[in-house]
Amino acid sequence: MEKHRSSTEAPAIREPGGRTYLMCRPSYYAVEYAINPWMDTSAPVDTARACAQWEALAEVYTGLGHEVLRIEPEPGLPDMVYAANGAFVVDGIAYGARFRHPERAPEADAHEKWHRAAGRAFVKPEHTNEGEGDFTYLPGRELILAGWGFRTDARAHAEAADVFGRQVVSLRLVDPRYYHLDTALAPLDDGRIAYYPDAFAPGSRLLLERLFPDAVIADADDAAAFGLNFVSDGTHVVVNAEAAGMVRKLRDAGYEPVPVDLSELKKGGGSVKCCTAELRR
Ligand code: ARG
Repeated sequence: MEKHRSSTEAPAIREPGGRTYLMCRPSYYAVEYAINPWMDTSAPVDTARACAQWEALAEVYTGLGHEVLRIEPEPGLPDMVYAANGAFVVDGIAYGARFRHPERAPEADAHEKWHRAAGRAFVKPEHTNEGEGDFTYLPGRELILAGWGFRTDARAHAEAADVFGRQVVSLRLVDPRYYHLDTALAPLDDGRIAYYPDAFAPGSRLLLERLFPDAVIADADDAAAFGLNFVSDGTHVVVNAEAAGMVRKLRDAGYEPVPVDLSELKKGGGSVKCCTAELRR
């Protein structure tokens, strides 16, 4: 795995209980096409600023005792910084992505190569799915939560259940601004989640209420500030700094919010979680 790290990167130090995250530096980040409502091809993007914000995010993770691995960015793939979409990893198995839009299709191959080179078991998908963008896992509940409606094909949910031998809860997304599950819902710890109810179809909302009566409920402002696109290690919640209301809710719920400025990456329709793929052992 060594060869995937750049020479400037500190050696990976993972504390007990620390997580392992895969990230991709936004060296070629731009908004060259618009495949979600946040992307405005006429608005300027500052790639250097995006890189600085991204480096700060990586430093926050290592500072919290987590290990950060890197996948090499590729020219011509401006969205590759959103590493969460490249695959979904549980139990050390990587279930590969298959992108909805042709612009992002080659990213799936880059991630496949990376996982295979790292010696990880890799399953090539038959159905369209955008990795951790639409899948997450709650170990305390032994449940995979999966989104569909915009990007991931619901048939990929059954495929994932088959790959991991785990139960998958299908949730239908209905608001185009929250086109990936990770823009509308996130795990806070092994068993608890936060979500924005209006992003989901009525049946899915009912299901979430039944499964997670203790959830932290986000409002329209929290969601619009990408306040649900956070990464939690069960204690610290790394969250977009613009989501001030969400920061308060997280603190009130007993977590320690760690706000980061990812304003430049928001122009592509993503934030903290989109930039972070968790490699679950
Ligand atoms: N521009 C990217 C897209 O529309 C953003 C992806 C955000 N990633 C995420 N995990 N939500 O596909």
